[in-house]
Amino acid sequence: MDIERTLVLETVRVTEQAALSASRLAGKGDKEAVDRAGTEAMRKVLGELPISGTVVIGEGEMDEAPMLFIGEKVGRGGPKVDIAVDPVEGTNITAKGLPNSITVIAMSERGGLLHAPDMYMEKLVVAPPAAGKVSIDNSVQTNLRLIAESLQRSIEDLVVVVLDRPRHEQLIREVREAGARVKLIGDGDVVAALAVAVRGTGVHALMGSGGAPEGVLAAAALKCLGGEIQARFLPHSEEERLRLHAMGANEAQVYRTQDLAPGKEIVFAATGITDGDILEGVRYFGGGARTHSIVMGYDTKVVRFIDSIHLIQAGARVNIRV
Ligand code: FBP
Repeated sequence: MDIERTLVLETVRVTEQAALSASRLAGKGDKEAVDRAGTEAMRKVLGELPISGTVVIGEGEMDEAPMLFIGEKVGRGGPKVDIAVDPVEGTNITAKGLPNSITVIAMSERGGLLHAPDMYMEKLVVAPPAAGKVSIDNSVQTNLRLIAESLQRSIEDLVVVVLDRPRHEQLIREVREAGARVKLIGDGDVVAALAVAVRGTGVHALMGSGGAPEGVLAAAALKCLGGEIQARFLPHSEEERLRLHAMGANEAQVYRTQDLAPGKEIVFAATGITDGDILEGVRYFGGGARTHSIVMGYDTKVVRFIDSIHLIQAGARVNIRV
């Protein structure tokens, strides 16, 4: 409870600042610059927080990422926390000015977030009513039937989010043949997982493979929202397989929400960079900007949507609109 109570607003400050920086480059076509801007801003605010933090999911291994690398210590001292970040989830989307890019962070007590290696993971995400009823080992058709039953509708009334990739051709065919509709997304399966767990977004499941680090971030959010993720690592090379085994994991095991985010205390925050299904993007006005975030605590059981107005330039005219 202490970590969540102390850090909830601090955490959203981290994602807000990353979103403000990254959004300045939205639509400018340079995904590396977008990522750098988000990462630098996130790193700066994390350094100011009253925590002794360790990055467990970050921008890569120490030798490949200058900042927010796995194992990096952040914060000015305080409770020991593990941190998972994706300073720009959807670098391509942001660079192209397309919808649904976010900045995202999760924090927990030490050991509360799985140190998932950067490789692919097969994922099944469902909303709270279907949690505990589906299985990643079922056929697509069976899972869709179970999801439809839990939501008291027919399969034809379901929309399944899938990353638009050639590797998903067969999956897409199976979803369509079962009678459901598919929403293909270009990138960004963390925000898609959030949308599945929130009612009124018009999507009811996420299926297919994406990044394992993103799976852990999604698990942290789903744990707070009551949805479910089931996942399986998909190593694509011998090197990835060895890396997986070295961390005591394997490709046969099904990882559930609780395995990916076992923490007793979890804070999750995300801020929209571009407009999206559950968060608005950063909107600028003369001298300032407005951000839209979600921040939640697992133990404190509060989900907050935060609409912030940032008066950035000295002398910015205070012009607050509802
Ligand atoms: P980045 O923002 O790091 O580029 O990740 C975007 C993303 O779409 C994730 O949401 C997803 O899990 C992963 O990439 C999918 O990987 P790939 O593009 O290789 O299919």
